[in-house]
Amino acid sequence: RPNIGCVKDLAESSDLISIPSKYSYFNTQNQEDGMDEVVAELVQIPTIDFSILNSTFPDQRSKVIQDIGKACQDWGFFMVINHGVPESLMERMLAMCRDFFDQTEEEKLECAGKHVLAPIRFGTSFNSSVDKVFFWRDFLKVLVHPQFHSPSSPAGFSEISMEYCEKTRQVARELLKAISESLGLEENCIDKTMELESCFQILISNLYPPCPQPDLAMGMPPHSDHGLLTLLIQNQNGGLQLNHNGKWVNVHASPNTFLVNTGDHLEILSNGKYKSVLHRAVVNNKVTRISLAVTHGPCLDKVVAPVAELVDSENNPALYHGMKYKEYLEFQQSNQLNGKSHLDRIR
Ligand code: SIN
Ligand code: FE2
Repeated sequence: RPNIGCVKDLAESSDLISIPSKYSYFNTQNQEDGMDEVVAELVQIPTIDFSILNSTFPDQRSKVIQDIGKACQDWGFFMVINHGVPESLMERMLAMCRDFFDQTEEEKLECAGKHVLAPIRFGTSFNSSVDKVFFWRDFLKVLVHPQFHSPSSPAGFSEISMEYCEKTRQVARELLKAISESLGLEENCIDKTMELESCFQILISNLYPPCPQPDLAMGMPPHSDHGLLTLLIQNQNGGLQLNHNGKWVNVHASPNTFLVNTGDHLEILSNGKYKSVLHRAVVNNKVTRISLAVTHGPCLDKVVAPVAELVDSENNPALYHGMKYKEYLEFQQSNQLNGKSHLDRIR
């Protein structure tokens, strides 16, 4: 059996007062990446009332679609309220993730998949076989659609995650219809061309234990997500930061809210109009943070390129080469996580 060396066990060792040097992120060149300024004051992040998308008043629906488009363009990030997913389901799902990480090393190692697209994968850092600096993070990654998978324990994980992922998939597809319209496309354009009936959906839970040197360590380095839309929830502890106009902005989640961000494939589809947003997760020395992201991508076999309607060779040439989603994903997941370097490869 491999030894994962998970951060949770390390953090729980009673005499830990400093972190092993391989977790020392801010000691290296990362300190000079020029983006370490954090905006401490409250910044108003766009909030979208999902229920209004079903409004029978066309004006109200158009207004929300406009707001979503603006949020995608200016932020690549927005919060979604009144989304229809029961709060109790969101809470039970987070509790299940907590229960997963609280299992013994033996039990968790049942899920120690090696390949980046293994259906169920428990691990630490981002990709411990290539990471030079390790991140203060353990994770569970499960492929949940079009084929559903689940770890066999803890009991109930499978039922709850299936229900949760069905519901988040519906929300994501509805949001992508609105996004389609906001780009001036037919409402079902993205859904149809990306074959979202077979949408590739991944559930990723992240555990960030308290860290004795939070100013040195990093939970997740700056990156953008692959795919179209990510829906994230977390326990009440902050740590997510997104890059807005070159500064890191703290994101604090309210209960019963989805934090939604645009992914690389929405940037590609929209020919750069909606840029995928850089974000990272910092750690603290007091409480354990758990986040749960569900990523929604095209059908795995789709070649994704800018939508034809948004490209014209004279004024708006295509800014990205087409690439199969599966190849993009395998490449991104097998390499170090590093800003938007994967997207840059097909520019
Ligand atoms: C992620 O970017 O996938 C996770 C970020 C977080 O934990 O909030
Ligand atoms: Fe992410």
